[in-house]
Amino acid sequence: MENKKEIIVTGDRPTGRLHLGHYVGSLRKRVELQDDPRYKQYVFIADCQALTDNARNPEKIRQNLIEVALDYLSVGIDPTKTTIFVQSQIPELTELTFYYMNLVTLGRLQRNPTIKTEIKEKNFDGGIPTGFMTYPISQAADITAFGAKYVPVGEDQEPLLEQTREIVRTFNSIYGDILVEPRAILSADGVCRRLPGIDGSEKMGKSLGNAIYLADEPSVIKKQINNMFTDPLHLRVEDPGHLEGNIPFIYLTAFATPEHFTKYLPAYANLDEMKAHYTRGGLGDGTVKKFLNDVLNDVLTPIRERRKKYEQNIDFVYDMLEKGSREARAIATDTLKRVRRAMGLEYFEDTGLRNEYKSKYTNKK
Ligand code: TRP
Repeated sequence: MENKKEIIVTGDRPTGRLHLGHYVGSLRKRVELQDDPRYKQYVFIADCQALTDNARNPEKIRQNLIEVALDYLSVGIDPTKTTIFVQSQIPELTELTFYYMNLVTLGRLQRNPTIKTEIKEKNFDGGIPTGFMTYPISQAADITAFGAKYVPVGEDQEPLLEQTREIVRTFNSIYGDILVEPRAILSADGVCRRLPGIDGSEKMGKSLGNAIYLADEPSVIKKQINNMFTDPLHLRVEDPGHLEGNIPFIYLTAFATPEHFTKYLPAYANLDEMKAHYTRGGLGDGTVKKFLNDVLNDVLTPIRERRKKYEQNIDFVYDMLEKGSREARAIATDTLKRVRRAMGLEYFEDTGLRNEYKSKYTNKK
């Protein structure tokens, strides 16, 4: 008998290809976690959540479903270890959401910092869709349906986990101890928690043109690195440079290992030595960018190659998603059954209530 493993669940909205921010913030961690015998990991494509602000553009979600699946496989998320599935294929999640809705006030949803930021960013004209406003509740269903204890995500997801924990506590206090309280697993390093765009802005995205995607070709990566914001005061190589907000150095912090130095820039043993030289003066941005380009190619070449292999085998990707969804659905079905029982909704299996009524009315006569 296998010991009971702790459950990990996480997902991504299929609104575009995945980029380096996703990689250092969460994907890299998932590849590590799937090999840890203490855990069973589920990773899913959150197409229903993506629809909460893309209802009029379902084709975008449809198109990105397979792209995200390819990105998962390309970074090394392995379907023999991790169950990969599609949110919309698990209708039980919707029913759970409907019950949880009764446990959360509108005021609480309106105070969610992540929701507040997103509302500002998206400037919904014509009003905020109810589905969007309530997606934190649906996210609680995603997590609790699998009994997840850990959720590897970026730090912007912390308020959503807090909302999930509140729902779990409220549910359990009313209906009995059924649901599991989850915790975020954040990337250890500060820089990796929120990798900035190449222009230095906090948010990376396609419309901003400031992201490096996992599937980008070397020529694109090189161009993006050349466009990176560095230090506007560092005009000549001899000038002392500043590290704050210096994007190549931030990316090197997230990606460069001592092995990369040995391989591509043996003049320095590690990033600290390189930083010291830059601050002192005498190290040009060109050298820093060239090194970053070597490092990123080192990281991204195997990912790009694996992706190309799967792109030639789309049937495999579909079969994998279908099988994963079937597996995930069985678990969600079991949780929903326990939830319905706890809430007293299993009228036809519940002989207690039937008998209560029988005696209530037969005795009266
Ligand atoms: N909110 C996540 C994102 O924007 C996606 C998501 C949906 C998710 N449900 C989840 C993440 C459950 C972790 C757990 O990318």
